[in-house]
Amino acid sequence: MDPDAASQASAGPSPSGVGPSAWSPESWRDRPALQQPRYEDPEEVRSVVAQLKALPPLVTSWEIESLRGQLAEAARGNRFLLQGGDCAERFDECTPDRITSKLKILLQMSLVLVHGGGRRVIRVGRFAGQYAKPRSADMETRDGVELPSYRGDNVNLSSFDAEARRPDPARLIRGHTCSAMSLNFIRALIDGGFADLHHPEYWDLGFVEHSPLRAEYERMAESIGESLRFMESVADATVGQINRVDFFTSHEALVLLYESAMTRSVPHREGYWNLSTHMPWVGVRTGDPDGAHVEYLRGIRNPIGVKVGPSTDTQSLLKVLDLLDPDDEPGRINLIHRFGAHEIGRGLRPVLEAVKATGRTVLFCCDPMHGNTETVVPGSGPWEGMKVKTRKFAHILAELEQAIEIHERVGTLLGGVHFELTGDDVTECTGGARGLTDEDLARSYRTHVDPRLNYEQALEMAMLIAKRMGRGPR
Ligand code: PEP
Ligand code: CO
Repeated sequence: MDPDAASQASAGPSPSGVGPSAWSPESWRDRPALQQPRYEDPEEVRSVVAQLKALPPLVTSWEIESLRGQLAEAARGNRFLLQGGDCAERFDECTPDRITSKLKILLQMSLVLVHGGGRRVIRVGRFAGQYAKPRSADMETRDGVELPSYRGDNVNLSSFDAEARRPDPARLIRGHTCSAMSLNFIRALIDGGFADLHHPEYWDLGFVEHSPLRAEYERMAESIGESLRFMESVADATVGQINRVDFFTSHEALVLLYESAMTRSVPHREGYWNLSTHMPWVGVRTGDPDGAHVEYLRGIRNPIGVKVGPSTDTQSLLKVLDLLDPDDEPGRINLIHRFGAHEIGRGLRPVLEAVKATGRTVLFCCDPMHGNTETVVPGSGPWEGMKVKTRKFAHILAELEQAIEIHERVGTLLGGVHFELTGDDVTECTGGARGLTDEDLARSYRTHVDPRLNYEQALEMAMLIAKRMGRGPR
């Protein structure tokens, strides 16, 4: 962030290290803010922030409170959270087909999970605002040319040229617009009842033929279809009309100028809400208890996702929990662990035990994606010899299975899952029933950041979790 802009709006709490002081939507400006774009023109930044502050919110405090209540039930084991969507959304993918397909896969996965787990499922999209990305390096070098890293469409463009990579504050306004358009369409689809997307007749189940579990998958889809038809005939309505389909959004609260500009108070209620999303989360790179992100998040009333991984220090995490959730409010904290299939066996247990020992009620979720990213060099095919980021279906599943077991052993509860996925037929992760290989990656690799499960892989993953959750087909 531009240091000039930061000093202009300082709200003046005392520095870190002396415990929480007065909070305001701007108090983060006095803390070290990692992963912020470096804008060139402070005047332009001020103008963009003023425009954002005047724009309508994207969600309401009532919806946020409703989500918090549902997350509290999930933390007690009475609901299950399904959070999923792109690693990084893109403005040019704010199109009706892409939005529909993402919603469709999340809805279908949620039906499979309800069927398998017998718990109501809370659906939270990683979308309508997931436009900013933390990066491990500030700069990227290609053929001797060094440019700022791509930080998501809210900041710059991914193509490798100087103009595209220049952080442009006006993109934050475009981010708000694309989020609003996405959410408007999602709300319309949901109000329309979504009947066709519910029914297994509309599911693309071609992949099951390739699976040894084919018969089980078919029985599961058939049984879900029968339950839906039964409910609809009894109630003489579509499922969309019977059960109001709740749908919530989330994104990483990363670019604090944007998040704080969307932070509002509302009439007749005390406190502040981030009204750009229902559930912002803090990533592993910005989770320092003394940093600007935790400072910002501690003062808003939304439920908050907190990512933890191999680099998380348990004492810092406990401090973060004290800061973000001093009153131990059920539904406030969604602790999202992402260790990777090879690290979870070592890393998760101490975190769970430490949190359990505090007596807090937090919701634990597993993100089996971010610890399982690897770089491969396909041996043949169009991308032979190139480095490609991917994830293996088997590793993703293995992390989830271990997560369930470790929670069972510690006496905590896995209350949800967090995926990077798309409703489209991309080839970014390998494995799954169709057995995608490294050589297949070039066929339809579209992500600009992390690799996502495609439609079939996501549905299959839901079926396998449902099976593991105990009420799936045996
Ligand atoms: C993400 O969720 O896209 C992300 C960057 O995650 P993490 O902070 O867990 O690495
Ligand atoms: Co990601």
